[in-house]
Amino acid sequence: MNLMSEVKKRVQNAFDVAGFTNADILVKVSDRPDMSDYQSNGALPLAKKEKKNPREIASKIADELKKDSFFKTVSVDGPGFINMTIADEALAHLAYPILSTPKGGYERADKPKKVVLDYGGPNVGKALHIGHLRPANIGDSVRRIMAFAGDETIGDAHLGDWGRPMGLVITELKHTYPDMPYFKADYVSDEGYQIPFTIKDVAEAYPTASAKAKADETYMAEAKEATRLLQTGHKGYYDLWKRFVEITVADDKEIFDTLGIHFDLWWGESRENERGIQMVERMKEKGLAVLDDGAIVVPMEGDTPPAILVNSAGAMMYATTDLATIEERVEVFQPNEIIYFTDLRQGLHFSQVFAVAQKDGMAPNVHFEFQGFGTITGADNKPYKTRDGGVASLRSVIEMAEEAARKKMDAGEIGRDLTDDEKKEISKIVGISALKFIDLANDKIKNYIFDPDKMTSTEGKTGPYLLYAMVRMKSVLEKMNVSAELSAADKIVLTMPAERNLLLRLFALPEAVQTAYDNRAPHVIADYLYKLCQDFNLFYHDCSIKGSAEEIQQSRLALTKYALHISLKMADLLGLKVPNKM
Ligand code: ARG
Repeated sequence: MNLMSEVKKRVQNAFDVAGFTNADILVKVSDRPDMSDYQSNGALPLAKKEKKNPREIASKIADELKKDSFFKTVSVDGPGFINMTIADEALAHLAYPILSTPKGGYERADKPKKVVLDYGGPNVGKALHIGHLRPANIGDSVRRIMAFAGDETIGDAHLGDWGRPMGLVITELKHTYPDMPYFKADYVSDEGYQIPFTIKDVAEAYPTASAKAKADETYMAEAKEATRLLQTGHKGYYDLWKRFVEITVADDKEIFDTLGIHFDLWWGESRENERGIQMVERMKEKGLAVLDDGAIVVPMEGDTPPAILVNSAGAMMYATTDLATIEERVEVFQPNEIIYFTDLRQGLHFSQVFAVAQKDGMAPNVHFEFQGFGTITGADNKPYKTRDGGVASLRSVIEMAEEAARKKMDAGEIGRDLTDDEKKEISKIVGISALKFIDLANDKIKNYIFDPDKMTSTEGKTGPYLLYAMVRMKSVLEKMNVSAELSAADKIVLTMPAERNLLLRLFALPEAVQTAYDNRAPHVIADYLYKLCQDFNLFYHDCSIKGSAEEIQQSRLALTKYALHISLKMADLLGLKVPNKM
């Protein structure tokens, strides 16, 4: 049950009684909240069909609606719009039955699906950097939204742990630590061997090696050979590789944990090696994959360049592991959908992958989706760079956000009443929420400027603004010694416009969730939560709790509970942590 369905039920009934049983009632939330809560535009197409005056038809329907005490006012406006305002008592009555449900009144119209979401895309041998924030953050939020809507979701990090970068790191480690057992001809096992390197060494090895390989052909040849040996089962290289996969994944997990970003699976590209080889053979036999200048490719239609499966050096390509991964996902999960979240620049890659999968028929019942997004930039609108021109690590980005939050605290803008220990802990929560929120609040298709100072501001559409409002909801209840638990006994009486606005906003959750779901758009939830917090702040400002009559005080506390209940659900869809104090 939700408010929209309650209104629709009544409008449908009015259409029926007025004799228009087969019409489309076209009910929506009003475009003019100053005039009405809901509107029905159904009289217009109906009049066209029946060749009658739309205002006349609308008046007939409105006359029926006026008999229903659910509505306070019903009017016919313009060419034949029906505007409806709901009676305050009706709204108050619906608060508990709708808002106390686990999904705040959200109901799913179609059948739930099984969905694999591919996001994050960390790479072994390369530390997570600023470019990994959006795929992980947006993908995880969409996973939360889809799960809320009832889908069975499987979030996969699709770890980049195969291919040339691995060969480069092995080569560089071989140069730095030539005495490690992995490089000995008589290598058997590394059991009990303490590796002399840490995540820092692994992360530094890749950029060093990649620069060397660009400048030096023999080094490049060595790296290519190391890649080939790794992929064809060189025992020492394989064991070394396993060790550095282990330490980078542990580090990645720590960072994603800090960010509150969750993955169900960490399937690496490497696990598809065997499957990839067999898949290419199969595609060759079918005539789908053909030889082209020493490479194995699948030709594409139109101007799209061919998808390269195996390059002329015999190495398996990015598209090949993605295709083999699809095969395995279909085998293991039989999903209805697979959705990929990466920077828009990978659009061509995914259109090739989807086309090959379709031509091959490996996933006949799967709907593929590429959800690309814009870049995080500096003030110059170019991809964000550190002061010395490098790529910022994701760790440093988190630190910058936390520091900015801490600065706001030291300046007295946030957390004035907190102890020093609390400040330490809460500045972290605030910084991370600020970072995540700003990233989600921007329509994902657009670029945005990375600005730690602005994102931690308590004014405007920011994480701290929202957290402040939600902390306030918690503290209002705490100060009045009221539990946040919802109860059917809590009676709502609407006396002020701000109370009514807040309640209507809470009832609008289903539409926000549906739009966010349909468009894979966390920014719709971000926007809804922002408006909800604004409505709460206005209510808090206009409607005093202490000192008002018993019945009104009770009602305002109940409204605060509902606001907290719904906003925490929405914060969870954005993966935001809400502190108890701020
Ligand atoms: N690791 C890749 C990168 O850094 C992103 C992986 C995206 N997912 C995929 N299935 N290809 O670009």
